[in-house]
Amino acid sequence: MKDTVYLDNSATSWPKPPGVARAMAAFMEECGGSAGRSSHRRAIEAGLEIYRAREAVAELLGVEKPNRVIFGHNATWALNQVIGGLLRPGDRVIADRSSHNSVRRPLLALKRDAGLRIDWWAPPSAAEPLDPAELDDLLSKEPTRLVTVCHISNVLGTIEPLAEICATAHRHGALVLADCAQSAGSLPLELDAWGVDFAAFTGHKGLLGPQGTGGLVIGPDLPLEPLMRGGGGDSRAEDVPSELPEALEAGTYNAVGLAGLRAGIAWIREQGLDALLKRKRRLTRRLCEIVDEADAELLGPRDPALRGALVSFNLPGWEANQLAAALEESHGVQTRSGLHCAPGAHHVALTMDRGAVRASVGPFNTEEDLEVLARAVAAARRETP
Ligand SMILES: Cc1ncc(COP(=O)(O)O)c(C=O)c1O
Repeated sequence: MKDTVYLDNSATSWPKPPGVARAMAAFMEECGGSAGRSSHRRAIEAGLEIYRAREAVAELLGVEKPNRVIFGHNATWALNQVIGGLLRPGDRVIADRSSHNSVRRPLLALKRDAGLRIDWWAPPSAAEPLDPAELDDLLSKEPTRLVTVCHISNVLGTIEPLAEICATAHRHGALVLADCAQSAGSLPLELDAWGVDFAAFTGHKGLLGPQGTGGLVIGPDLPLEPLMRGGGGDSRAEDVPSELPEALEAGTYNAVGLAGLRAGIAWIREQGLDALLKRKRRLTRRLCEIVDEADAELLGPRDPALRGALVSFNLPGWEANQLAAALEESHGVQTRSGLHCAPGAHHVALTMDRGAVRASVGPFNTEEDLEVLARAVAAARRETP
């Protein structure tokens, strides 16, 4: 994979800090036990490793008690766990129109199978965030069980006003599920202070951990029926333990992955989340300029302070998948193209027919990487098919 420029950090971050692979190898070579099962030292050490990862996530995301950090495979698992474990037939949900399919599809399945009622909530335009006043109106119409919001849209890049959304929902007795797949590790999060009831995070994007890690942060004293039941706790008992986190964590842990996740978070803390954010914003500003210089169509807000470190765009005359292939072929630039698993965001941006190409930066991208992108986009502009 020489001579490539990786600009697909919103799909999964790469490269990872060197300590991530080292921590995973160290766990495999020196420990390798199964946490929460046997009582020998290897199993206890594995349990401690997982606890340290839990503490690291809690501290970074502004969660007071580490036991409210529930580990699963990824954000998709966490979103499905909340939707399937909370909602009941006839409940009403207000869902962000830009939702990822890991929210949209489980909601639609419950609509089809269990009479869930869904009202979609869109921003005033693709360049603006969701408006909490409009949420207030929607909530006044009928009792609502859950409001879902994608904290940073993986297509438009918009950062949504999560604290205000929680305050508005709570005034009407509704709970909030925030999809923080694109924001955890990238933006400073204060989940407890903002009153977020459920937040899904993934380990392999902004948190710089390996794929196969992620989970759910759950607010204090919130009921959630487990979607999966397995071992753990008293083997004679008919049901899984009722205490968090074990109540929602079925099966053997991905301890090796969690060792890597903790190392990713440790690196973020060492560098400083604010310093990393400042750098990514500078690069995002340049991404927007590159799109403008090519007279391309930019999706989402223009101001880098209002968006995550990703920019989706379309070049006139180019189909998005074709353009992404050309960027890689001509200059080795790796981006993502298509509808990005979030068709609703393309409804908002009016790009359902064409999708978009998305360039997204991580902490290891440089100004030079973006100049390669600028040359690749300019070349594509000259060679419109
Ligand atoms: C906004 C958003 N939500 C959810 C997901 C799903 O994350 P994961 O693949 O870790 O389950 C993604 C991944 O691309 C995403 O961008």
